[in-house]
Amino acid sequence: MCIFAYLNYHVPRTRREILEVLIKGLRRLEYRGYDSAGVGIDGGNSKEWETNSKSIHLIKQTGKVKALDEEIHRQQDVDLDVEFDVHLGIAHTRWATHGVPSPVNSHPQRSDKNNEFIVIHNGIITNYKDLKKFLESKGYEFESETDTETIAKLVKYIYDNRESDDITFTTLVEQVTQQLEGAFALVLKSVHYPGEAVGSRRGGPLLIGVRSDHKLSTDHIPILYRSCDGKTKTSGKDKKSCNTLPRMDEDTCLFPVDEKAVEYYFASDASAVIEHTNRVIFLEDDDIAAVRDGRLSIHRIKRTAGDHPARAIQTLQMELQQIMKGNFSSFMQKEIFEQPESVVNTMRGRVNFENNTVILGGLKDHIKEIQRCRRLIMIACGTSYHAGVATRQVLEELTELPVMVELASDFLDRNTPVFRDDVCFFISQSGETADSLLALRYCKGRGALTVGITNTVGSSISRETDCGVHINAGPEIGVASTKAYTSQFVALIMFALLMCDDRISMQPRRREIIQGLKVLPDLIKEVLSLDEEIQKLAAELYQQKSVLIMGRGYHYATCLEGALKIKEITYMHSEGILAGELKHGPLALVDKLMPVIMIIMRDHTYTKCQNALQQVVARQGRPIVICDKDDYETIKNSSRTIKVPHSVDCLQGILSVIPLQLLSFHLAVLRGFDVSLFSTRLHLTF
Ligand code: UD1
Ligand code: F6R
Repeated sequence: MCIFAYLNYHVPRTRREILEVLIKGLRRLEYRGYDSAGVGIDGGNSKEWETNSKSIHLIKQTGKVKALDEEIHRQQDVDLDVEFDVHLGIAHTRWATHGVPSPVNSHPQRSDKNNEFIVIHNGIITNYKDLKKFLESKGYEFESETDTETIAKLVKYIYDNRESDDITFTTLVEQVTQQLEGAFALVLKSVHYPGEAVGSRRGGPLLIGVRSDHKLSTDHIPILYRSCDGKTKTSGKDKKSCNTLPRMDEDTCLFPVDEKAVEYYFASDASAVIEHTNRVIFLEDDDIAAVRDGRLSIHRIKRTAGDHPARAIQTLQMELQQIMKGNFSSFMQKEIFEQPESVVNTMRGRVNFENNTVILGGLKDHIKEIQRCRRLIMIACGTSYHAGVATRQVLEELTELPVMVELASDFLDRNTPVFRDDVCFFISQSGETADSLLALRYCKGRGALTVGITNTVGSSISRETDCGVHINAGPEIGVASTKAYTSQFVALIMFALLMCDDRISMQPRRREIIQGLKVLPDLIKEVLSLDEEIQKLAAELYQQKSVLIMGRGYHYATCLEGALKIKEITYMHSEGILAGELKHGPLALVDKLMPVIMIIMRDHTYTKCQNALQQVVARQGRPIVICDKDDYETIKNSSRTIKVPHSVDCLQGILSVIPLQLLSFHLAVLRGFDVSLFSTRLHLTF
């Protein structure tokens, strides 16, 4: 689900241009996956708005953004050449959660047949049934199956029952969001507030891009708080203004100083705004952002301890080309092949291969505290969790601390005891995964030091952790996490190295690992050169129902991750099995028909893995073995091998996972899935 809205203020734009901006914004967000799309724009022409005959026009369509674009051009009654000096258009792509994909269930959702209030929404309103019942009892008729429609109806209910005609759009939305439970990012538009936009978030990302050729009034927008008596006051000094509405000056809002012309873009993802502007404001949970008369202000209902008094305008470094998929058939494929560079970017400026040192700017002020802690807890979901499993052993070795690795959802379900002297790591590509974020708040609440390992600068986890490391893998927009995994892996190894940099006894091991990191990009390239061979293997396997992946030690995580990739994008059953557990049940699955992939590397588990191989062969299995290219013994004894270069034991997992990333990609293609259309991110951040 994605949000995109465009407000032009004293920047004349024809309706055609406005729709082009909206459609383009949605296109930039397409990679996240969706099943329907819609836009809401002003109806009539700008003169009619001035003469008070206002209307809003909704165009919604099931399927791709292209289908919506075609639907727009089919509309007979929409004059595309009308020019608007001031206009707000809102647009959305939806992934069905409540109700099937259909135009009526698509967003914008509306308050009534006259479209007095319309809303676009990401997330889920958990109390929508109660709200709906209440609104129905008041005579409001619902047309869709969505939870979102209750938001539009609720705004209208509050508007219809307003005590005063002066009620602002912001106040209305404030009152609505107070009634909402669940998670949301939303933007509203109304015929009663022409040219005004109000957006808010709780648990889902929302940012605002600003574009103006003129100097802006501020680079920090102060938060306006609603005071005791229901009015608003500024965040700071001006206690006297408790009873007054906010002043519209440079102290309270953002606007171009000398001229009026300004454009605002609301989006749930920076990739939709970057082509228009790199100046953005990331909203925090419960912020309500409003644009009125071309001025942006940010409101909050309550002040809580630790609140930042302002929201800064940040400059995005992201380049559009960075998020385009180049010559590859899908982002996933592109990102798999980017790994030689992405791991370098993770280490850039941090690992010095000459003098074997590691510097992590994000941890330098906290490292002493971390070294004194009682245990490390790594908390994450999915692939990010596997990065924790993959590096646990080397963390235990180099930090000599107990290390727990936790799935965020289970960690929360268990109400796991956490103490002030614990250090909790939150590993997340997006930095927005709901369970990881909830676990972060849980640990913070118990006084633990929180550390983020995130790929997304400005994400909730990056901002809410006490400190952390950005993995700098570049935007990962493919269907399944690939390069983020290897970069998380490298980031956690760098952390382990940092933790023991003054331990004399550890120096030989540290040097070995750092020198291993130095050659890692070349070794990854070597593994990627196996692509064709792996494609052939995929051609042999793609009609199978299931595939088992076995390994142990450093490669248990590879088994879990390989199986997750296969399940996720090929819809084939796959299971990662710890080879040590084979005799406790899973061996029963092995016969001459079941495809089995085994990972056998020359580390401390080698002999045990050979035993597992024998057990599989004894049951007539014909395993495909991922092994060290110099391991002649395994190569000789196996009917099928994928030979990867040798690395330091604790880094070898980076090399063993890549063949499985490639395999899952090729299996998906052969099984007829368009990998470029998948989006798992939906489950994560909505
Ligand atoms: C920082 C800059 C980088 C610059 C480098 C130069 C940023 C985002 N990074 O990188 O552009 O080249 O200095 O020295 O401006 N943090 C969290 N939680 C997380 C991730 C990070 O709190 O999940 C915090 C860190 O503690 C730190 C800040 O965010 O305060 C930046 O982290 P990171 O980008 O990893 O720091 P540097 O590598 O020093
Ligand atoms: C799998 C995948 C997911 C994510 C998981 C956590 O390919 O992408 O399993 O790894 O949902 O997401 P982040 O890392 O964004 O917290």
